[in-house]
Amino acid sequence: MSSKFYVTTPIYYVNGEPHIGHVYTTAIADVLARYHRLLGEDTFFLTGTDEHAAKVVDSAAENGVSTQEWADRNAQAFQDTFDRLGMTHDDFIRTTQDRHIERVQSYVKQLLDSGDVYLGEYEGWYDAGQEEYVPENKAKESDYKSPVSDQPLVRKTEKNYFFKLSAYGDALLQLLGSGDVFDVQPTARKNEVLARIREGLNDIPISRTGSSDWGIKVPGDDTHTIYVWIDALFNYLSTVDTDDRRKYWSTDVHLIGKEILWFHAVIWPAMLLALNKLPGNEWIRLPRLLYTHSQWIAEGKKMSKILGNFIDLAQIDHYAETFGLDALRYFLTTNGPLGTTDSDFAESKFIEVYNTDLANTFGNCFSRVSNMTARYFDGKLPEPGEEPESANGIEHDRVIDKAVRDYTKAMKSLELSKAADAAMGIVRAVDSYIEATQPFQLAKQDGKLPQVGTVLYNCAESLRVASLLLWPFLPEKVQEMWQRTGCGHYADALADRGGGDLDNWRQWGQSQPGSEIQKGDPLFPRFQPAKA
Ligand code: MSP
Repeated sequence: MSSKFYVTTPIYYVNGEPHIGHVYTTAIADVLARYHRLLGEDTFFLTGTDEHAAKVVDSAAENGVSTQEWADRNAQAFQDTFDRLGMTHDDFIRTTQDRHIERVQSYVKQLLDSGDVYLGEYEGWYDAGQEEYVPENKAKESDYKSPVSDQPLVRKTEKNYFFKLSAYGDALLQLLGSGDVFDVQPTARKNEVLARIREGLNDIPISRTGSSDWGIKVPGDDTHTIYVWIDALFNYLSTVDTDDRRKYWSTDVHLIGKEILWFHAVIWPAMLLALNKLPGNEWIRLPRLLYTHSQWIAEGKKMSKILGNFIDLAQIDHYAETFGLDALRYFLTTNGPLGTTDSDFAESKFIEVYNTDLANTFGNCFSRVSNMTARYFDGKLPEPGEEPESANGIEHDRVIDKAVRDYTKAMKSLELSKAADAAMGIVRAVDSYIEATQPFQLAKQDGKLPQVGTVLYNCAESLRVASLLLWPFLPEKVQEMWQRTGCGHYADALADRGGGDLDNWRQWGQSQPGSEIQKGDPLFPRFQPAKA
């Protein structure tokens, strides 16, 4: 096993059930985790829930249950949803678990002792929905309303513990500026962060006092609760801060939505720098990459419960049941807002992507090849030999080499759509090869059956490599295809940590002539919308 890969999603608030935004970030993390497993890397994929927010207390009260019960219920809904959708996270952290609470207190205690956390007083504009203070200039710009919810901001004064964020501005500018150790992508987002750091950093309050008991106490001062965002950010570290998991640190990719960039790009690395300089913490290095995505909107408009275009859990289940899990993840991960522009979740677009890429390209190509193998070779993969002249000197391994190169490059830069397209390129090349060589015509000609065999072998071999590249996106259907083509050993190997071996598996010529190719139902039946 060569290297390790650690990927995280934000941990989600448990004031309500999961929706498309949560499923999206987790799905892209799952694709990345599977890709790195495919490479044979020792991969750790973390997701979980952020439970100490005041809005969890409020929504529990509105629903007439205790905060703990409400948190338990919704945390379970997140776990069930992710399990149902086939997410392969290695752990699910809940910030109300003792393992997290104990470590957060130890991190804050270390910062108190080093002076990076100190007691002071704070006054400012507070956005209750977002659980954050809004700087004076931003508050004024938005007319003292929340830029997110439009609710009025509240003037608040508190005695707080502060984190000395101001001490880390220069280090962050330098680190982010070079991007060698710690990077934020896309670049436009990094530039936003850099510009804001240059305006100057103030120390930030990291504790709350008051009514609610819900939260982690500041060590040595029971009257203060650690601010939920500080508590939450530490999840990435606390989960792997055990003897057998420290090897996964630091995070290779933190995936986040754009609305939580500031916490992750500035406060989080600054806290890590503060911890790292203490004796024994040399291993607490900065995350490698923070990748920020944009938002899903739905049917052309910002998602809203009132407009009725909210892609909630019921909608997610509807799509998964109608089109299959793979279709949902494929659409989300290849048509989602990974860059700086928002994406539209529209049913018509979903159907178009499903039919074009999955039914008509991948699914149909596999059906053609397995049907012809059944028809002409009794369902046994034929021996390759001489190519028909009409193949025009095609070099299959070259097509594959280029696709794998493009795929790898795209995966490295988190361009999931490009990566999937590179894999689909192999499938499209198979279709063109069939069009050019016309095996069903050849089969009618005397003595041409061996050439038909060559064509089908090459098609099957190309599809085998395409299936490997598509596995992170379409794990269920690809595994079904592997079962039908005698490639079940890939699924077995991938179930073991570090068992993947893409570099080897993708090499040309590994399909065994004579092995069985079962034809069966289409992997992705074409979807015909019901007539109104
Ligand atoms: N609990 C904090 C994160 C703490 S991480 C240390 C939080 N939780 S959240 O429940 O609000 O979920 C935030 C994540 O959900 C965002 O990063 C984003 O990934 C995702 N999304 C929520 N709505 C979204 C869309 N409409 N579209 C895409 N993703 C969005 O913030």
